[in-house]
Amino acid sequence: MKYIIETYGCQMNVADSELVSSLLISAGHSPVTDIDDAQVIVFNTCSVRDHAEQRVLGRIANEKHRKTADPGIKIGVIGCMAQRMGKRLMEIESGIDFVVGVDQYQHLPSILADDEPCGADTLSMDKTQVYQGIMPHRQDAHCGFVTVMRGCDNFCSYCIVPYVRGRERSRPINDIYNEVKSASEAGLRDITLLGQNVNSYQYDGYHFPDLLRKLNDIESLWRLRFVTSHPKDLSDELISAMAECSKVCEHIHLPLQAGDDQVLKNMNRSYNVDHYLGLIDKLRTAIPNIAITTDLMVGFPGESEAQFENTLRVMESIRFDYAFCFKYSEREGTKAASYKDQVPEDERLRRLQAMIELQRQITFDKFQEQIGKTVEVYVEDFSRKSQDMVSGKTRDFKIAVLSGGSDKIGGLSLAKVVDATAGTLICD
Ligand code: 5AD
Ligand code: SF4
Repeated sequence: MKYIIETYGCQMNVADSELVSSLLISAGHSPVTDIDDAQVIVFNTCSVRDHAEQRVLGRIANEKHRKTADPGIKIGVIGCMAQRMGKRLMEIESGIDFVVGVDQYQHLPSILADDEPCGADTLSMDKTQVYQGIMPHRQDAHCGFVTVMRGCDNFCSYCIVPYVRGRERSRPINDIYNEVKSASEAGLRDITLLGQNVNSYQYDGYHFPDLLRKLNDIESLWRLRFVTSHPKDLSDELISAMAECSKVCEHIHLPLQAGDDQVLKNMNRSYNVDHYLGLIDKLRTAIPNIAITTDLMVGFPGESEAQFENTLRVMESIRFDYAFCFKYSEREGTKAASYKDQVPEDERLRRLQAMIELQRQITFDKFQEQIGKTVEVYVEDFSRKSQDMVSGKTRDFKIAVLSGGSDKIGGLSLAKVVDATAGTLICD
């Protein structure tokens, strides 16, 4: 059958879609890029905020008319929302034919072959599932994701992930090595290691810094990145490994969530603002030009105006290169959903807008500071605006455009930054 996968949420889901694609191709199905050609439409979903769930339900409602014209068309839901809601999803949305949870993707071929009934809801959690031995079907020719661990044991009080992704488990170090090696030999020179808590990687006595050092030796690999790191596992040893490994890029995504000690405590984040500031100092000392990006949340239950402003002050003092800013969203079953003092929706929105505006200014200034510098760009494609320009990323994860044609694509170019917006470096 011809299938298409529509992916929502984080990069873990992007990587999982590549895994699912590989399973489906092995079973004889073929991917299509136009939904009009698809006989199977799979939605890989996210549950981290209510908004993400509502969007997918809206998409499914929009696409189910296709089944009237062709009753053979199947619509499936996989990913976090499938895991969280199971068969309830089929009651809410009649267009759904099957629901498969995050640890059960190996069942997808038999569901499509009708060996397992359509309407199957395969949701049991497998504490050991790491999809060993499956090479993802890569979507991109230049950059790739490699999952190194799955799950999360942290139980931040607002977060659904530990419930839908299960306990932390890491992949064998040699499997990861082989996957990074073969992907980079195939031309994917920029590899991002993925895990919900990537830096708590632990396998057979190997820790995350050991993994970085091992992968750094792969000759065909040019750049190594990783997301997402938890501050509690950002050890001195890891900072040293980042500084010493030439392929590890000068960028870290380190979610702060809030810049107020009481809010952090209520969130069960297990660090305080001083500790986080200490980490930033260590990172900037060891890796002077490191870019630091973060996740921030406003309107966590009980967050006062003063506590919110504390977060803004910390943002001003750290000056993140970029911050993903979110409005707190209650997630059924998490600890914070039972907290009494929920912040009113309009107040959450006001705080979010103020936060985004502050970060937009900081990001713009940070990009302006790059003007005059020479940066190394891994060129991935033509620029969207002009066929005489190409675009790619710098080592510190900024989008850059520069003059040039197809001969530059897939290679590294040194270019001088001559101008900048709040999202793009313009090079000569
Ligand atoms: N509401 C809003 N944002 C959330 N995040 C996680 N859970 C929630 C929630 N319930 C944010 C955090 C996390 C990012 C991936 O999503 O900032 O780092
Ligand atoms: Fe969620 Fe916290 Fe785990 Fe991140 S560390 S996935 S925010 S519980």
